[in-house]
Amino acid sequence: MEKDIYILGIESSCDDTSASVIKNGKILSNIVSTQKVHEEYGGVVPELASRAHQQSIIPVVDQAIKKSGIELSQLNAVAFTSGPGLMGSLLVGTSFAKSLSMSLNIPLIEVNHMQGHILANFIQDGDMTSPNFPFLTLVISGGHTQIVKVNSHFNMEILGETIDDAAGEAFDKSGKIIGLPYPGGPLIDKYAKEGNPKAFKFTKPRVDGYNFSFSGLKTNILYFVQKQVKENPDFVKENLHDLCASIQFTIVEVLMDKLKKAVKETGITEVAMAGGVSANSEIRARFFKAEKDWNWTAHVPKFEFTTDNAAMIAMVGYLKYKVEDFSDISVTAKARFSL
Ligand code: KG4
Ligand code: ZN
Repeated sequence: MEKDIYILGIESSCDDTSASVIKNGKILSNIVSTQKVHEEYGGVVPELASRAHQQSIIPVVDQAIKKSGIELSQLNAVAFTSGPGLMGSLLVGTSFAKSLSMSLNIPLIEVNHMQGHILANFIQDGDMTSPNFPFLTLVISGGHTQIVKVNSHFNMEILGETIDDAAGEAFDKSGKIIGLPYPGGPLIDKYAKEGNPKAFKFTKPRVDGYNFSFSGLKTNILYFVQKQVKENPDFVKENLHDLCASIQFTIVEVLMDKLKKAVKETGITEVAMAGGVSANSEIRARFFKAEKDWNWTAHVPKFEFTTDNAAMIAMVGYLKYKVEDFSDISVTAKARFSL
């Protein structure tokens, strides 16, 4: 019988401190501590984020180990996010992971955060099915928007990406325009449920190939709201649900149009989603409708594995462990780190 492999994953690239223990690709624990300090600032404040990571990293790792039911000494490796992300935030997880791997004398494994989002589709949990290679992934998060062709666990090609704002930023910046706290994405999703998606029409950007652009849409929404508020100061309050539904409808339509184009032109019908925005109920509904209408095989990670989490980092750690792709103790955090 093969021996069991236990990996600790650590994630600290943005505003979530997270730790997870997985056994042979199955999640034993996944603790996520989301920083609340940023809410009132309308976005993540890097300096505050690093301090909050420093405060929570030890309790979060401690909880993840306790919940997993294993002893620290049973760990086979420590995997951590080395980038891309906020430098100060990444440094906290990187330094912690290095020290722990040294003190336990076990391998250290650096993980690309975006690869983590994509390979979250391989986490074995409940009825989740893993995609077959090659597959396309729509990666939509607060910092990235890409269509990626995944040839194997470690071979990925970016077919297209945003030339300005990410899809998550489009949600969050629109949320800010209509007075929602950060992050606006989940709130827009919530209010949109009771709104009419066709109430207001916003202009969809035109960009070549599989690339995206969201900054024009943001300006379009800003000017529209400013004009309406001039005429009626209560416009946003009176139309909150319709505004959210219309904003969400437009962003989701832009994403789905490009994904459909990529599937059609590559002929690859095995399709996955990844990243925080794939938690959005409208894009999930449209994605599974496309699966039926166009004969796709669709995959989306469970909610807790779509937004930032350490389980996805531990998963990549497990896959890298199996091929002995270990990092040297001199490895550094990287604010920019392409797939
Ligand atoms: O992947 P993620 O947790 O962090 C990054 O790596 O960026 O993604 C965070 C983004 C935020 O912009 C947040 O507003 C968005 O995901 N998000 C959502 C929803 N849940 C999270 N956007 C729309 N609808 C949601 N339900
Ligand atoms: Zn992320």
